[in-house]
Amino acid sequence: MSAYLEKCFQPARLNGLTLKNRFIKAGTFEGMTAGGIPSPALQQFHTRLAAGGVGMTTIGYCAVEADGRLNENMLYMHEGIREPLTALIDSIHALDCKVSGQMGHGGGFSKNRELQRKRPLGPSFGINMLGVAQGMIFCDAMTDADIRHMVQQYHDAALFMKSVGFDALEIHFGHGYGLCQFMSPKTNRRTDQYGGSLHNRMRVPLQVLESVRKAVGDRFPIIGKISLTEGVRGGLDYNDAVQISELLDKGGIDGIVTSGGTSTMNPMIMFRGGNIFRPLLRAEKNPLMKAMILLAGPVMFKHYPYEELYFLEQALRIRERVKCNMIYVGGASTNASFERLMRNGFDFVQLGRTLLSDPDLPRQALIHADYQSRCLHCNECVATIEHPQGIHCTRFGDNKNIIHTQAV
Ligand SMILES: Cc1cc2nc3c(=O)[nH]c(=O)nc-3n(C[C@H](O)[C@H](O)[C@H](O)COP(=O)(O)O)c2cc1C
Repeated sequence: MSAYLEKCFQPARLNGLTLKNRFIKAGTFEGMTAGGIPSPALQQFHTRLAAGGVGMTTIGYCAVEADGRLNENMLYMHEGIREPLTALIDSIHALDCKVSGQMGHGGGFSKNRELQRKRPLGPSFGINMLGVAQGMIFCDAMTDADIRHMVQQYHDAALFMKSVGFDALEIHFGHGYGLCQFMSPKTNRRTDQYGGSLHNRMRVPLQVLESVRKAVGDRFPIIGKISLTEGVRGGLDYNDAVQISELLDKGGIDGIVTSGGTSTMNPMIMFRGGNIFRPLLRAEKNPLMKAMILLAGPVMFKHYPYEELYFLEQALRIRERVKCNMIYVGGASTNASFERLMRNGFDFVQLGRTLLSDPDLPRQALIHADYQSRCLHCNECVATIEHPQGIHCTRFGDNKNIIHTQAV
């Protein structure tokens, strides 16, 4: 094993935290929180990953307030879930694995039937693509008071998350969700101090970073997930991502996860491989939503064939410009790739689909020098997000009990 590959399996620091290796489970909304409550299935899912050897797992999409959820079956950070959340985190810690929480807010993108307001709030008035089938066709623009409220919610959620035992927080700045909507000229058409130049569009995201830092203190790791490009005309592009990363770096972020795409407009950039159009159509129960997927599908679900390390070139541009940790995500599935990432100065690797396909990846990769994940990047797992059992790999199935001895 080369020194670079070996580095992946050795302990590493992320601000005040030590991870036993450089593998981090990427946030993948688990769909195991019916009614917004962490379930035994969620515990089993993450403890299985912990048993497989990952250094840190990420609990996907932890909304910072009830109205920040995309639907009513997502976690939102409040005292009512302290007990099950603490128990979940404790059980992961017991397996020598750290836990990160992905802090999210849907902004003007929501189909949450429990929304307290009539419409979800984003930076500007517009269409709420996700809510159309629920009759929530539009989103409204936040007032200054709404913005202050949201920033405060991030602060309060961060305090709560630290108190229940999270080891790190990942602020979601990408994928077309609330903060990304402020960053993007496509969705932010404000004419006040929060709109216009990139500097202005970054004001809310930077205020959020500052408020989360204030809540957790200097030694607590805060990472941010960004979209390298939104992949839509008039949206954020690869050049913007470099400037955004520099601003987050200067703002005191500890690590940047370089993803891409938007769940709202162009998701396939994010998880390249099999097109999710047909699997999503098959899985959707709501006839109106089905019709919408059918109509919007060909435009929204573009084809991006799988390539190993598909974000490497653009992520490297950011590596050259920031001092903080760089956390690679996107099609890392072989030991050769892990080695290449370390050789190119990345500090951690986030893994999504490969760990759904084989939670034992870190252990297997350590044993087999020529390890290759068996994940086919078919993306059938994406369509299981609203499955009664939650997300799972439909090909290799069991992410609970099987210890794989042979990587295929
Ligand atoms: C089933 C599924 C659910 C996902 N949910 C989230 C999510 O909640 N938040 C997020 O930032 N990314 C989400 N993603 C994207 C992954 O975190 C990751 O960026 C993407 O899968 C690319 O990494 P990979 O090639 O290692 O899978 C999801 C991906 C999958 C497959």
